[in-house]
Amino acid sequence: MDNKISKIGVFTSGGDAPGMNAAIRATIRAAIYYNKEVYGIMRGYEGMIDNEIVKMGARSVGNILQRGGTILKTARSEMFRTKEGREKAYQNLKKCGIDALVAIGGDGSFTGLHKFYEEFNIPSICIPGTIDNDIAGTDYTIGFDTATNTAVEAIDRIRDTALSHNRLFFIEVMGRNSGYIAVNCGIAGGAVAVILPEETTSFDQLFTLLEKGGKTNKKSSLVVVAEGSKIGGASELAKMVAERSNYFDIKVTILGHMQRGGSPTYFDRVLASKMGVAAIEGLLAGKSDVMVGIRDNKMVYNEFNTIMTQTHEIDSEALRIAKILSI
Ligand code: F6P
Repeated sequence: MDNKISKIGVFTSGGDAPGMNAAIRATIRAAIYYNKEVYGIMRGYEGMIDNEIVKMGARSVGNILQRGGTILKTARSEMFRTKEGREKAYQNLKKCGIDALVAIGGDGSFTGLHKFYEEFNIPSICIPGTIDNDIAGTDYTIGFDTATNTAVEAIDRIRDTALSHNRLFFIEVMGRNSGYIAVNCGIAGGAVAVILPEETTSFDQLFTLLEKGGKTNKKSSLVVVAEGSKIGGASELAKMVAERSNYFDIKVTILGHMQRGGSPTYFDRVLASKMGVAAIEGLLAGKSDVMVGIRDNKMVYNEFNTIMTQTHEIDSEALRIAKILSI
C-alpha cells in the first residue's frame, strides 16, 4: 500500500467532540506506521490560513487517547469560506510540502474540505467527529456516545431531585438539527416525552401527555428537549405549560456544553482509533474526497456527494420505543 503522498496534514474543525484526540492519535500514528510525515494544523482552517502548522511524531500524541477536547484546538472559520482564505491556506500547505489532508469534524468542515479539494486537488479524507450524530454515511460519529452518556448521567441525577419534590423537569440537550442525543437520552433516562427537531409533536399533544401522567399518579416527569426543537426550547415549553396550568411544579435544566467535555467512552475511543487508521489507509490506497464511516460495524468510505445530499434520519424504532415506554 503506497502512493505519492509523503506529508499528511491533520486538523480538527467545528465543534469539539470527545474522542477527537483519539482520532488525532490514530491518524498520526497510522501515518507514521506507513512511513509518512505528518503535521498537525492548529485551530482547523484558521490555522491553515494563519500558518500554524506543527510537525507531529508518534510521541507527540502520547497520553491523549483518554482526554476530552482536541489538542489541535478547533474553530469555525469564516475566512475559509472565502476564495482568498482558501488560497492563503493552500500556499501555506504548499510551503510545508503537505500533499494530503485528514479533517476531523462535522458537515461544515466537510463542505469546506470538498470545496478545497475541487479547487486545489489535494487528496482529502474526512472523519466524522461531532456529538450530534447527524451525518449520513455512518451509524455513529465520534463523540455521540460519550455526550449521550454524560447527558444520561445528568438526567439520572435530576430524576432523584425531581422525584423527591414531585416535580416536572424540562431538560434541554444539544442537537441543533438532530434529535439523536435527545431520543436516546429519553429512552435511557426514562423521559415521559422527547421533543426533537425532526418530529412534529405539537404543544397540545405534549400537554395532554403530561396531564395524563398527573392523572395516572406519575410522581415526577422528565421531558427531554433537543436544542433545535421546533415548538420551543426547554425554557419556552416550561413557560407554556405553566401558563396553561398551575398543577405542575416546573423546573428547567439546560445541559449545554458540559455534554461536549470529558473523557471519551471506550466506544468513542475504539471508533476514533478505527476511523483514524481507515483514513490513512484510504488515502494511501488512493481514496479522496470521501468520508470514513462505520456501517453495520464495518468501516466504509462514502463519496462526499452521497453524504452531503442525505440526512442521518432519526432512528424511528428508537422513537417508537421511547413512546411505548413513557406511559
Ligand atoms: O455540532 C455540535 C454542537 O454541540 C451542537 O449540538 C450545538 O448546537 C453546537 O455544536 C454548539 O456550537 P457552539 O459550541 O459553537 O456554540
